[in-house]
Amino acid sequence: MGVDAFLLVLLLGPALAAVLLHFLFAKKERRNIPNGSMGWPLLGETLGFLKPHKSNTLGSFLQDHCSRYGKVFKSHVFGSPTIISCDHELNSFILQNEERLFQCSYPKPIHGVLGKLSMLVVVGDAHKKLRSIALSLTNTWKSKFEYLHDIEEHAISIMESWRDREQVIFCEEARKYTFNVIVKQILSLKPEEPQTAMILEDFLTFMKGLVSFPLYIPGAPYAKAVKARSRISSTVRAIVDERRKGVVGSEKGDFLDVLLSNGSLSDEENVSLVLDLLLGGYETTSLLMSLAVYFLGSSPTALGQLKEEHQAIRKRKEKGEHLNWEDYKQMEYTQNVINEALRCGNIVKFVHRKALKDVQFKGYLIPSGWKVLPVFSAAHLDPSLHEEASEFCPRRWAGRATSKKIAPFGGGPRLCPGAELAKVETAFFLHHLVLNFRWRTEEEDQPMAYPYLEFKRGLPLVIEPIER
Ligand code: HEM
Repeated sequence: MGVDAFLLVLLLGPALAAVLLHFLFAKKERRNIPNGSMGWPLLGETLGFLKPHKSNTLGSFLQDHCSRYGKVFKSHVFGSPTIISCDHELNSFILQNEERLFQCSYPKPIHGVLGKLSMLVVVGDAHKKLRSIALSLTNTWKSKFEYLHDIEEHAISIMESWRDREQVIFCEEARKYTFNVIVKQILSLKPEEPQTAMILEDFLTFMKGLVSFPLYIPGAPYAKAVKARSRISSTVRAIVDERRKGVVGSEKGDFLDVLLSNGSLSDEENVSLVLDLLLGGYETTSLLMSLAVYFLGSSPTALGQLKEEHQAIRKRKEKGEHLNWEDYKQMEYTQNVINEALRCGNIVKFVHRKALKDVQFKGYLIPSGWKVLPVFSAAHLDPSLHEEASEFCPRRWAGRATSKKIAPFGGGPRLCPGAELAKVETAFFLHHLVLNFRWRTEEEDQPMAYPYLEFKRGLPLVIEPIER
């Protein structure tokens, strides 16, 4: 072999080997990677995946893809090759194997709005540290009578403001209620304080940007959201500074006091955690309430049964006596209504993960580095898991306080720390609502997955007080 030929083999050999390996590997992948379609260059199938649909249906994209490729399929969405899972078993497997095989991986633009220290952004030990504090905070309120008392007072006060009204936009009222509850519990702010109104206004801008197209040009919703977040941060930081001055009597016994006395987080982390709890704590819960009211509106039998349960609780109590934890634990049918509203309404349709290594599941290969989207709504509406899956039927939960067949609050090491708080707020509100008001929807307004959940008209209700 001449020198030239030798050089040629030396240069081309590795290249040929790489091409050969690529084909061998591609063939192996083709064998195991779930079927599916990668859609258009760059855009992939993102637009189809995000196409709005009624939130108690699968939507045409998932419907078509599941019938063509099965419950687990490959696609290309949000700029990455992705495995989309509509399979409840795989969804649970993904959530339970957080940090071992999969990892939380929200798209970069979301990091821009949430901030680099947000619990939905951080991973590994940084996440563990924030989470343990968030859990200790959300667990304290359960045992405290004052927190429950406070929640009920806020519900009563919202409904008192309805006394002379014939119509309310329910989503707005529910949002006011859950926001007032969470800012009181975390920062001890009252609804009438100017800081409360300021934070709420900034949060509304923030929410719009979080779900908008991530275009950072002045005036665009995304850019406005980034600014709104920084204003909320400044407001919270000012409150933290005030408390730090340690003026006697400035302790309020709220979440922020517990957080500051814990002392293990930097100020930046404290502010970010407060923002996470405020953000996680109000919009989702108000949507749960709106879903319950929406579905009950067309289920007179369920509404009747719910009313009976709350009338019985009231009978056992003195006039005006507050609800307590034992009362809440006895609201069995209310829990069924809440579980069913979560199943049918699908507040969080899917979450974002990525595979940390090649993962084999039921004979599929999920390649390392690919995005993975467990779609909760698909499992919630799966007829092989839920009989007459499209029907709102709270009775199906009888005797089962929780179910492994739904995952409205996610699961594994990232299971929502606010689940119980959201349920208590909803249960207490429903208690006073069914005892004091009749309601009906005048215009048809359905819960829609945009894919974030929204009632287009805010769920207008015609209300009538019940004379007792
Ligand atoms: C009906 C109401 C709610 C629903 C449907 C809901 C749903 C969820 C879901 C699905 C996740 C998991 C996200 C993921 O795995 O990527 C989550 C996480 C979270 N939620 Fe909720 N949530 C609700 C109420 C609340 C409340 C009331 C709070 C605060 C008090 C809260 C705070 C959080 C936080 C801080 C996380 C991040 C947890 C972590 O990464 O470890 N949520 N929520």
